[in-house]
Amino acid sequence: MQIPSDENVIVGIEGFEDAGVYRISDTVAIVQTIDFFTPIVNDPYCFGQIAAANALSDIYAMGAVPKTALNMVCFSPKKFDLSILKDIIRGGIDKIREAGVSLLGGHSVDDEEIKYGLAITGIVHPDKVIRNEGARPDDILILTKPLGTGILNTGIKGNMLSNDSIQKLIDVMATLNKKASDVMLSVKTHAATDVTGFGLAGHLKEMIKENIGVQLFAGKLPYFSEATELAKSGFVPGGLYRNRDFYQEHVSAHDQGFSYDIIFDPQTSGGLLMAVDPADLPAFEKKAADVKLEYWIIGKFIDEPKGKIILG
Ligand code: CO
Ligand code: CO
Repeated sequence: MQIPSDENVIVGIEGFEDAGVYRISDTVAIVQTIDFFTPIVNDPYCFGQIAAANALSDIYAMGAVPKTALNMVCFSPKKFDLSILKDIIRGGIDKIREAGVSLLGGHSVDDEEIKYGLAITGIVHPDKVIRNEGARPDDILILTKPLGTGILNTGIKGNMLSNDSIQKLIDVMATLNKKASDVMLSVKTHAATDVTGFGLAGHLKEMIKENIGVQLFAGKLPYFSEATELAKSGFVPGGLYRNRDFYQEHVSAHDQGFSYDIIFDPQTSGGLLMAVDPADLPAFEKKAADVKLEYWIIGKFIDEPKGKIILG
C-alpha cells in the first residue's frame, strides 16, 4: 500500500472505492464522487431522476450523508428541443431534493450526444467511513435492489418491455439508496459498496479482493422476473459478457444456469451490497421492517477459499 502524500486523504483513487474521502477536521471528512451517462430510458424526466439516484448512491455506499450537488450536462440545443434538457434537470433536482441535497451549480457542454449526471459532496465522520473491503468470515451478505437492470435496459432498446415493466424498472433505478444506508448505519456493517457497471460479481470481487471468500446462494438472488425470458431471447448487454470475461476466473459455479448470467449483468443505480455482522442481523431485519426497506440475504463471507466467489 502506497502512503498518501497528503495525510488528510482518507480514501484516494486506489482500491476501487465508491468515492474519495478527505479529512477536514477531527470530526468531519468530505466525500466526493461524480457519475454521468447517456440516457437509458426514453422519458427525460425519469432519466434525470435515475442519473441523480445513481450519482448519490456512491455517497450512501460509504456511509456518508450527501449535502451538495453540481450538474454535469452534455446537450446540443441545435439537435434537441430545449424542453428535453429542462425535463432531465427537473428530474435530477426532484431527486436531490428528496435526498435533502442542495444544488450549487453546474456546467454544460454543447455535445450531440446527451449526457447527464452530477458531482456530489457528502460528509462523514473520519472514523465512520464504510469501505468496500473489511468484510469478515461469517458476515451476512445483503443486497437491497433486484438485479437485471442491464438486461431489462437492453430489452427496452429492443421494444421488448411492456409499459408496466418499464415503469417498475424505472421505479427501482430511481429509488435512492438513502433508506438502505440508514439501515446499514444502524447496525455493525464491516464493508459495503453499490452494485453498478461491474455487476454483482465484479463489485463483490472488490469487496473480497484476495483477503476473504464469499458464498453466494444462487437460489436467493433477486432479479426482475422479465430478465430470464429476455436473456433467453438474446437481449443481453455487451457489458455482461465483458464482466464475465473479466471476473469468471474468480467465480466457481456449480451449475451454469441463469444465476451465472445475472451475477455479471451490469447494473444502473443498483442497490447497496453490505457485509453485516451476523450478531446484528436481527437488528438489521427489525430496522429494515420499520423503514420498509426491501432487502435480500444473498450469501455469506467465508475464510476460504480467499479471493473466490462460490456460486451454489
Ligand atoms: Co459505486
Ligand atoms: Co460511481
